[in-house]
Amino acid sequence: MNEVKQVTVIGSGSMGHQIGMLCALGGYETVIQDINEQALCEAESKLHTIMDRWVSKEKISADDKMKAFHLLRFSNDLEEAVQQADLVIEAVTEKLDVKREVFRRLEAYAPAHTVFATNSSTIVNSLIADVTKRPDKVVNMHFFFPPLVMDCVEVVKSEATSDETAALAMEVCRVINRTAILLTKEISGFVANRLLGALQKEAMSLYEQGIADFKDIDLICKKALNHPIGPFELMDLSGLDVAKFVMEQRYQETGDPEDRPFQSVLEKVDKGELGRKTGKGWYDYSKAAVTKG
Ligand SMILES: NC(=O)c1ccc[n+]([C@@H]2O[C@H](COP(=O)([O-])OP(=O)(O)OC[C@H]3O[C@@H](n4cnc5c(N)ncnc54)[C@H](O)[C@@H]3O)[C@@H](O)[C@H]2O)c1
Repeated sequence: MNEVKQVTVIGSGSMGHQIGMLCALGGYETVIQDINEQALCEAESKLHTIMDRWVSKEKISADDKMKAFHLLRFSNDLEEAVQQADLVIEAVTEKLDVKREVFRRLEAYAPAHTVFATNSSTIVNSLIADVTKRPDKVVNMHFFFPPLVMDCVEVVKSEATSDETAALAMEVCRVINRTAILLTKEISGFVANRLLGALQKEAMSLYEQGIADFKDIDLICKKALNHPIGPFELMDLSGLDVAKFVMEQRYQETGDPEDRPFQSVLEKVDKGELGRKTGKGWYDYSKAAVTKG
């Protein structure tokens, strides 16, 4: 198996910057690349804040923090960022055409041995791998939000993904201290998001039918089912735009009217109410808000 020394993460958004930090903490030379300079600056500053908190809580030592930041750098130049990469983890916007274009460019600039992974929440790697000349070296590595907290990665093989590539992805997860589960067959949404999607779909349907308010549906999930967080709260946490992309992607793949994105989610995204990141989604997170809703 190729030894992994350098990991490049493409996309420095909610997922990418934390996946990059995990890799640096695991001892890999790590590059986080984004086309948006401001996103890169924000990513770096957020990571310093989180790691400072980890040091003050004694989750890591100040020395470990310093070592990790020595291994980590940021770049807006894809060609330069992947030239030495042994593994690339793509974490750009959840749009198939955007991901395919990124993989096309990865194929052009990365060495022949480099393994390409996608962190997509739903898209199976074979829908992207055909733009490369190395479908055997393409795999899904699906981290969960927020990656620095959530200890799970779904590693998904396509029919073309080699055992060696899957083993490399599993080994990297071990090194960065994440529990990895190997799915040996592709299915859109993988396991966790299919289960979650089924719950979310039923929750949205109950809400849109007027059976119960979204806050009460969240409350029932927490009190009766012992879930740590309700489906609407979770949507706010990961972003309603992400929920919309995921629903659109599923609908595009299945064509099933049952999978059509929910009207109330589309309306919120149109209004820019994307959840915690914009201060309002299903709930209101602005300091001025007296009541949630
Ligand atoms: N947010 C979640 O809860 C979650 C969980 C698991 C997986 N994912 C998946 O992770 C991926 C990223 O999601 P996110 O929530 O971090 O999105 P995000 O919108 O927060 O970040 C995406 C980043 O990608 C950058 N980007 C866009 N096009 C690019 C390109 N061509 N080259 C380089 N950078 C580019 C953007 O500038 C942005 O900074 C998606 O595939 C999503 O499905 C998201």
